[in-house]
Amino acid sequence: MIHYKELGLINSRELFRKAMNGGYAIPAFNFNNLEQLQAIIGACVETRSPVILQISKGARKYANQTLLQHLAKGAVEYALELGYAIPIVLHLDHGDTFETCKSCIETGFSSVMIDGSHLPYDENVKVTKQVVEFAHQYDVTVEGELGVLAGIEDEVQAEHSSYTQPEEVEDFVGKTGVDSLAISIGTSHGAYKFKVKPGEQPPPLRFDILEEVEKRIPGFPIVLHGASSVPQEIVDEINKYGGVLENTAGVSEEQLRKAAASAVCKINIDSDGRLAVTAAVRKVFAESPSEFDPRKYLGPARDKLKELYKHKIINVLGSANKA
Ligand code: G3H
Ligand code: 13P
Ligand code: ZN
Repeated sequence: MIHYKELGLINSRELFRKAMNGGYAIPAFNFNNLEQLQAIIGACVETRSPVILQISKGARKYANQTLLQHLAKGAVEYALELGYAIPIVLHLDHGDTFETCKSCIETGFSSVMIDGSHLPYDENVKVTKQVVEFAHQYDVTVEGELGVLAGIEDEVQAEHSSYTQPEEVEDFVGKTGVDSLAISIGTSHGAYKFKVKPGEQPPPLRFDILEEVEKRIPGFPIVLHGASSVPQEIVDEINKYGGVLENTAGVSEEQLRKAAASAVCKINIDSDGRLAVTAAVRKVFAESPSEFDPRKYLGPARDKLKELYKHKIINVLGSANKA
């Protein structure tokens, strides 16, 4: 067992308390490799922002969990080396079973998500409670989820029926003991969040559901998944340099700012980073087809990613200078 405190990490409890009182949100950025991690830490140190480093099950498989442990420890020391000790949480994104969560807790994660949102309500309660009971023995914080994030392929009906039902949240939080709750108010994962025709605006997020949830569990930290904005200028850059991404759509930054000022304390962003990396790599290959040193295309990708994260922190989440 490696406890996260030995790695210099913290859990999310105190960060969420401050974010709730301060009307901002903590960035939760996914990473799978060294360059993404460097960009996240570089951006957070430069803006003095706390951060949640997020690792999906797929990322663990891709990068190897032993290496990830060492990268996380490296992240803490790297921040110090860059000149500022930002608070860092290491979080499992979309944990699917008790066993996955347990294994992460035993290898240095300070926070885990158990995503039972696709399960019948009672089963979601059961598995979430099981994870909470294990995690809290080690002072690891737990994120649960109620309501399924809509997918682009869903029927309209299915999208509506998957919103979080506010009347369930008190019971869920009370029975499970979770530390934060991801809710579904109209966001979805990936770069194709809404079925929009060119020139059409995506539908607004369901802030009425968020407000109803806030009334029922006042002061409780809420999490927003699927919060990439899919910036059109980055999509255009990808397409200019040979990519084919059509009819993409994300969540407007204005709506994210509004969410960050509310009980939403954690905002998850992955796809925007993937787009930034792709645009930068494509540009290098289009402009310098003879380039074959990975540092020459991963370096610019890392730089672009860092700028994107700084923009999110300063202009969208409001977490700059909160470290
Ligand atoms: O919510 C999903 C995250 O973007 C992680 O995606 O499972 O492909 O690593 P992944
Ligand atoms: P995006 O796909 O919108 O970046 O969402 C990421 C996410 O929710 C990770 O859990
Ligand atoms: Zn997610």
